[in-house]
Amino acid sequence: MSPAYLDWNATAPVRPEVAEAMSEALRRTGNPSSVHRWGRAARQAIERARAEVAALVGAAPAEVIFTSGGTEANHLALGGVHDHRVLISAIEHDSVRAAVPGATVIPVSSEGVVDLGALDALLAAEDRPAVISIMLANNETGAIQPIAEAAAIARRHGTLLHCDAIQGAGKIPVDLGALGADLLSISAHKLGGPPGVGALVAREGVPLSALQRGGGQERSRRAGTENLPGIVGFGVAAELAARASLPAIAELRDAAEAALTAVAPEARVFAKTAPRLPNTLCIGMPGVAASTQVMALDLAGVMVSAGAACSSGKVRRSHVLEAMGASAAEAESAIRVSLGWSTTAAEIEQMIAAWTALYRRTRSAAA
Ligand SMILES: Cc1ncc(COP(=O)(O)O)c(C=O)c1O
Repeated sequence: MSPAYLDWNATAPVRPEVAEAMSEALRRTGNPSSVHRWGRAARQAIERARAEVAALVGAAPAEVIFTSGGTEANHLALGGVHDHRVLISAIEHDSVRAAVPGATVIPVSSEGVVDLGALDALLAAEDRPAVISIMLANNETGAIQPIAEAAAIARRHGTLLHCDAIQGAGKIPVDLGALGADLLSISAHKLGGPPGVGALVAREGVPLSALQRGGGQERSRRAGTENLPGIVGFGVAAELAARASLPAIAELRDAAEAALTAVAPEARVFAKTAPRLPNTLCIGMPGVAASTQVMALDLAGVMVSAGAACSSGKVRRSHVLEAMGASAAEAESAIRVSLGWSTTAAEIEQMIAAWTALYRRTRSAAA
C-alpha cells in the first residue's frame, strides 16, 4: 500500500522545481557580499528570491529579512522589545511563547478564535508601550484569526502588531497591507520550500533589534552569510504558492470530516465553525489516546500528527485545545490531519478506512 502523507502542517514536500533550483544554486560559488562577478550573481539570485517572497505577502522587497526559519523570524520580531509589554494569543506556537515567557495572554473562544473584546480591554488597561503577537492561522486547528480587526484595535492603542503567518502563507491569500500587520513571519518548509529558511517581513520604520550581529547582511538586521540555496528555493516556492489555488483541498478535507463524524457522531471537530484553513482537520476520537490513533494510522500507511506535542517521551497536552476549553480527555484524543496540493481522494479514503477500523475495534473491545 502506498503511504498517505497527511501531515502537511508539520512540513510540506519540497516542490520539484524548488529542488532543481536549489541544486543549481549549490553548484554555484560566490558570496553575495563579494563584489566580483560570481558574488554579484549570488546577490542577484538573493534579490530575485526576495522579490518573490515579498510578492507572496504583498510586501516591498526591502521589507523582507531572510532568517533561518519561522522560529528565528518570530524571535527577531519579538526579541528586541524588552521595554514593552507583550501580549500574545493563547494559541500561539511555542516559538512565540518561548520568545516572550512573561507575555500577557489574550484568551480565545471555544472555537479557537482570539477574543477581540479582551484584547481591547487588555490594551486599555496597559500603561506601558505594547506589542501584540497573533498568528494568522493556528497550526493545530487551522482556525483563522481576525488579524485586520486586531490591527485596527492595535492602531487605536498605538500598538505594534506581529503576525505569525507561517501556517497561513501558501494556504490562504496573505496581504500585509490588508492584514495591517507591522511584522509578519513566514517559513519556507510549510509551502514547498526547504526547511531552515524563513523570513520576517518588517514594515519600513518598524523598530527592530538584530539578534545576530556581525556582517552587515540583510541591512544589518540579520548578520551572517546568506543561505543562498535555501533562499533561492524559498523564492521559487513562494512564486509557485502565489500562483497555486487550493479549493479542491477544502472539498477533500470536508469529505474526510463528514465521513469521520458519520462513523463517530460524538467525535469533536475542533474549530469546526470558525473560519478555517482549507487543509486542516483536528478531530478527537473519544476515549482513544491520540498516540494510539497516530500509531494505528501509521501501521495502515497513513501519516498524521497528534494534537498534543510529544517531548522526551512524555505527551504534553495541547495548550491550544486547552485554551479552547477542551477537557483533558478531549485534548488527549485529538489528532490533526493536514492536506496539501498533491493529496488525493484515495489517500483520504485510506485514512477514513484506518480510522474507522480503529474506532470499531476500540468500541467492540469496550462492549
Ligand atoms: C505557527 C507556526 N509558527 C512557527 C513555526 C516554526 O517554524 P520553523 O519550523 O520554520 O522554525 C511553526 C512550525 O511548525 C508553526 O506552525
